[in-house]
Amino acid sequence: MKKNILITGGAGFIGSHVVRLFVNKYPNYNIFNLDKLTYAGNLLNLTDIKNSSNYKFIKGDICDENFVDKVFNSYEIDSVIHLAAESHVDRSILNPMEFINTNIIGTVTLLNIAKKYWTNNQNNLFYHISTDEVYGSLENQIDFFTENTSYDPKSPYSAAKASSDHFVRAYKNTFNLPIVISNCSNNYGPNQFPEKLIPLAINNIKNQKPIPIYGKGENIRDWLYVEDHAKAIDIIFHYGKNGETYNIGGSNEWKNIDLIYLLCKIMDKKLNRPEYESAKLISFVKDRAGHDLRYAIDSSKIQNHLNWKPEMTFEKGLEKTVDWYLSNEEWLNNTISGEYKNYYKKQYEN
Ligand code: NAD
Ligand code: TYD
Repeated sequence: MKKNILITGGAGFIGSHVVRLFVNKYPNYNIFNLDKLTYAGNLLNLTDIKNSSNYKFIKGDICDENFVDKVFNSYEIDSVIHLAAESHVDRSILNPMEFINTNIIGTVTLLNIAKKYWTNNQNNLFYHISTDEVYGSLENQIDFFTENTSYDPKSPYSAAKASSDHFVRAYKNTFNLPIVISNCSNNYGPNQFPEKLIPLAINNIKNQKPIPIYGKGENIRDWLYVEDHAKAIDIIFHYGKNGETYNIGGSNEWKNIDLIYLLCKIMDKKLNRPEYESAKLISFVKDRAGHDLRYAIDSSKIQNHLNWKPEMTFEKGLEKTVDWYLSNEEWLNNTISGEYKNYYKKQYEN
C-alpha cells in the first residue's frame, strides 16, 4: 500500500535511523522528514539516502501551526511518526521552557492538524515516540517499568514528555484519533549527539579529556542499540494495536561506572593505548540535580505480542559505535564546534 508518512525529528539521532530504515525498506512509501535542525539535528546523518526518490526533507518547526497545516495539505500526510523533541535531561535543567514548547506545544500542534485532516481515520496513525523516563526512578534493583506503571516524571524533560503522552492518549479518547505510543529505554549508537553519556565519553577519551561521571556513577540505565529501536518502531507502526502502549528495552542494565570501564577497555584497544590507560581519565563530578537512580524496562508485551526482541549484544554494539565515531571525524568535528562548546562550558566548567 502507498503511504505518505511524516517523520518528525528525522535529522536527529534516533529519527535518522528510522528515516533510513523506512526509505530503504519501503520504496512505495513517501517519507517526509520534518525537522527544525536545532543544535541536535544534522543532515549529515542522512547523506546516504538524501537523493532517494521516496524521500523529502522539510525544514520547519512543529510548533508552527500554519506551517504544519501546509505540510499535511501539500503532501496528503496519512501517518505520523513523531520523534521531534528536546531530548537532553541536563539541558532541561538549564532551560525548561524550550522543552515545554517543543515537547508539549509542538506535539499538540501536530495532534490538532492530524485531527483536522484525518476525517474518516482510515489508514491513519499518529505514532508518538516516548521514553521510559516518564515512569520516574526505580529506587530498588528488582522492579521494572511495565505499560501499567504509573507516570511519575522527575525531570523537566520527562515531565514534558509525560505531558505529551497524556495529550496523545486524550486525543484518542476524546476525538478517536488513531494513536500508538512506545516508551523506550536509553539508546546508543552512531549519530548520537555527544552531550549524552556514551558519545560524550567516546569523544573525551579520544581527545584525552576527563570523562565526567555524575555522583558515584552508581545510576543504572537499560541500554538499547539504536537500530534495534528503529526495528521496533517499524513493527509497532505496522502491527501495533490502535490506542496501545508498548515498552521497548534492551534488558541490558549497566551502572554508569561499569559501562565507562567497558568503554575505556574497548577504546584502549582501538586506539592502541596501554590497558587501563583511558580509565585514568575518569573524573567524578557534581551529581545531576534530581538524578534518577535506575531505569529498567519490562518489554514482555512487545516481545510476546509483536515478536520483537533486541538483536545487538552490548559489547558488539559499543564496538560498532566506537568504530563509527573514530571513522567519522568530519561529523564529530562539525558537531562539537560552535554551540556545543558553550553548552559544555556551562554544564561542566562551572
Ligand atoms: P535528538 O535530540 O537527537 O533529535 C531530536 C530532533 O528533533 C533533532 O533533529 C531536532 O532538530 C528536532 N527538533 C527539535 N525541536 C524541533 C521542533 N520544534 N520542530 C521540529 N524539529 C525539532 O533526539 P533523539 O535522542 O533522537 O530522540 C528522539 C525521540 O526519541 C525523542 O522524542 C525522545 O524523547 C525519544 N527517546 C529518546 C531516547 C534516547 O535514548 N535518545 C530514548 C527513548 C525515547
Ligand atoms: P544521558 O546519556 O544524559 O541519558 P539519561 O539522563 O536520559 O538517562 O545519561 C545517562 C546516564 O549517565 C545518567 O545516569 C547520567 C549519567 N551521565 C554522567 O554521569 N555524566 C555525563 O556527563 C552525562 C551526560 C551523563
